[in-house]
Amino acid sequence: MKIWNIRSVKNLIALGAVYTLFSSCAEKSNNSLLDISFIPQPVNITATHKAFSISSKTNIVCKSNDIQAIGKYLSKLLNPATGFSFTVVENNKKIAKGDILLQLNSAGFSLGNEGYEINITPRNLMLSAYKADGLIRGIQTLRQALPPQIENDSIENINWSIPTGTIRDYPKFEYRGAMLDVARHFFTVDEVKQYIDLLTYYKINTLHLHLSDDQGWRIEIKSWPELTKIGASSSVNNEKTGFYTQDDYTEIVNYAAERCISIIPEIDMPGHTNAALASYAVLNKNGIAADLYSGTEVGFSSLAIHKEITYQFIDDVIRELVAITPGPYIHIGGDESHATEHNDYIYFINNVLDIVTMYNKIAIGWDEIANANINANHIVQYWSNKANTQMGIKKGAKVIFSPAQYAYLDMKYDSTTALGLAWAGTIEVDKAYDWIPDTIIPNIKPYQILGIEAPLWSETLQTTNDIEFMAFPRLCGIAEIGWSQNADLNWEDYKVRLAKHKVRLEALGVNYYKSEKVEWVPAND
Ligand code: ACM
Repeated sequence: MKIWNIRSVKNLIALGAVYTLFSSCAEKSNNSLLDISFIPQPVNITATHKAFSISSKTNIVCKSNDIQAIGKYLSKLLNPATGFSFTVVENNKKIAKGDILLQLNSAGFSLGNEGYEINITPRNLMLSAYKADGLIRGIQTLRQALPPQIENDSIENINWSIPTGTIRDYPKFEYRGAMLDVARHFFTVDEVKQYIDLLTYYKINTLHLHLSDDQGWRIEIKSWPELTKIGASSSVNNEKTGFYTQDDYTEIVNYAAERCISIIPEIDMPGHTNAALASYAVLNKNGIAADLYSGTEVGFSSLAIHKEITYQFIDDVIRELVAITPGPYIHIGGDESHATEHNDYIYFINNVLDIVTMYNKIAIGWDEIANANINANHIVQYWSNKANTQMGIKKGAKVIFSPAQYAYLDMKYDSTTALGLAWAGTIEVDKAYDWIPDTIIPNIKPYQILGIEAPLWSETLQTTNDIEFMAFPRLCGIAEIGWSQNADLNWEDYKVRLAKHKVRLEALGVNYYKSEKVEWVPAND
């Protein structure tokens, strides 16, 4: 039995005083919008030091019919932790205290397609944007302005308050991407959706799916059925094989579109094509089907460059992909084609660029494609070769920056990381954050940069846990490089925000790497 004595009562009183001190500090700091550790950092925040609270009576009022789906998306996000049902209503309702308002507003034009403004008063919260994309981006800021428990999936009985003030925000780059390699190991539709949810949270607007490689072909092409009958049956070590039917792929595209994320399909060619070469003998230069491949070497395969059937094949693949790809881009790969003679490579890429253009899409390729006849209608994705990228810029192409030594999420954090590779070096959390795309290629002009992308190759990855461990928290920093203004990019400031952000990563259930470069705030701070 517990015996109470004077000493323990004194301790209890002291503990109570400390608790009161800390809880009143917390209340005070919670009252400033400026004290919230947003990632990415918004462009402009003004704080008015009061609080707005949502409650069981809060309605989500959509000022026009065309944004009801976004109202429902917000309601679904806020429901599990609050337990509130958040009726989504049209504008004809009288606005009550505690209501959240969403509106498309032509006055928001100056903030661009993804810009938004949030005005928070003690009475209401109003999120306005020029386009739906801006509302989706603003909703992520709103989530981060609420207590972190908002991401929990069961009810929390706390005061759901947001400090008052105004946030005006818009992205630095129009293209902020992530790439997932579903070829080396396959990831299911649900696994891809989970990744999309996390990309959404950090305002990333593009998911590039690496759909084919030596180890596997992952997308149904109805006119070439052996690609998935044969080519989808292998993977690295033959673990986690599979493919997306066109209906599966459309499910991913639609899920992403609801979050204003665009999907870019990549068919890597003329190298990285062993899975296709194993599926169809006719695509091989020697007319003999290759064996399926489950290793991790690169640079050994090539489509037959001078056979007409090769271009019929590519035309069919691109045509079927275009039919299920609403976004403007098709990625044609083009990297590490070491088994293709240089002139053949140029001939091949020129033909493929023509096919993509014929289907009214914009071709993106890894930086090697700059050797072909590219122009202002093409995009070069810089991953390793600056000379190629400079050549691409001279030819008028825009650049996506994915420097392997900073932005490759599959590189190990340090020599002890169990997952990942290290051919581009190890990438700690500070290194992944501390680079500026604008300075990598000398004299590049802002208009020549489309944006940035963080690729995640999957030779060593098989599960959502693996994806998350390699992507987080590095992807948070890369998302900030893509969104926030250069003046706000500062590792010393960012690492403090990231340390506090830990509680949100945990509420989201993310399996992240606890880097020693960050002084993580203990769980209940
Ligand atoms: C690449 O990493 N081979 C684009």
